[in-house]
Amino acid sequence: MQIKAASLNHRDQWIREGKYPNIQMGTTLGSDGCGVVSAVGEGVSENLLGKGVIMNPNRNWGDNPAVQSAQYSILGMPKDGTLAEYVLIEEDRLVEKPAHLSFEEAAALPLGGLTAFRAVFRHGQCAENQNVMISGVGGGVAQFAFLLAKHCGAQVWVTSGSQEKIDECIRYGAQGGFNYKSADWTKEAKGVGGFDLVIDSAGGDQINDFVRLMKPAGRIVCYGATTGVPSKLDLHRIFWNQITLQGSTMGNDLEFVQMVEYVSEHQIYPIIDSVRTFDEATSAFDSMKGGNQFGKLVLTIP
Ligand SMILES: NC(=O)c1ccc[n+]([C@@H]2O[C@H](COP(=O)([O-])OP(=O)(O)OC[C@H]3O[C@@H](n4cnc5c(N)ncnc54)[C@H](OP(=O)(O)O)[C@@H]3O)[C@@H](O)[C@H]2O)c1
Repeated sequence: MQIKAASLNHRDQWIREGKYPNIQMGTTLGSDGCGVVSAVGEGVSENLLGKGVIMNPNRNWGDNPAVQSAQYSILGMPKDGTLAEYVLIEEDRLVEKPAHLSFEEAAALPLGGLTAFRAVFRHGQCAENQNVMISGVGGGVAQFAFLLAKHCGAQVWVTSGSQEKIDECIRYGAQGGFNYKSADWTKEAKGVGGFDLVIDSAGGDQINDFVRLMKPAGRIVCYGATTGVPSKLDLHRIFWNQITLQGSTMGNDLEFVQMVEYVSEHQIYPIIDSVRTFDEATSAFDSMKGGNQFGKLVLTIP
């Protein structure tokens, strides 16, 4: 498959910093890619030949839709990934590119879209009129979680370390937002009257703030721990208020197909921070490390 565009995930940056398990030196990074099927192997159907496709980054999810198998891995480590001109990939990993998206936009979808889809719908049970908070909305996955929750009719608030990103989300239809760097942000958020669902990847002690902000029987879905693990956990409030603290990782192969269908049906456009050429990949990684981006960092082969 000939790659037209790829996009970065924080995973790529963790690997670059040596902070990821089982790193194998020499592996080509990149879990997200979009391109054109340029050739097929012997015995492989030619249905997708010449077509625009995106890649499911899952490898060996296994038979249980609830959890990945012990053999599970993600494209871009240890299997060579998408920061390349050509990728050799199995036919069952390919899904046709949504027609309304450019190669650059579609390249932003796979890992972030899948992770957000499972967190928001399978575990989050997000639905119309629920109060939902998406934390750290500038993140590649978080911006998808925001868009998915908005499109299903939830009332969505965001947190960010940047007022500009909050303002941008309000322009996209968020009810409001809170700057997690402000000492008083949880007092402001109390004014919402409680959240049915929080989607978070920052982790750390902030989890206890979310616990206090939930409606009874609310759900907190965590798919990352960027700031580390909590030093304490307000278990009393969690059990008394019947709060669910749910972990979530990527999504199964069926959810990948469902996510792409949902994006096509609702004509969702990913929020893209910037599109740079492959030559500028290092600067895109540095942007991710600095955390200044809003949305996905995309690389393209002109
Ligand atoms: N389990 C999985 O399958 C899975 C999949 C994808 C990602 N992840 C993990 O999820 C995390 C995010 O990944 P990503 O690719 O979306 O990364 P990213 O694009 O680099 O986004 C990181 C975002 O985290 C936010 N953040 C930083 N400190 C925060 C804090 N104290 N409170 C709230 N938000 C904070 C920032 O949001 P603002 O810019 O708005 O301040 C930042 O933009 C990473 O830890 C990654 O490893 C896990």
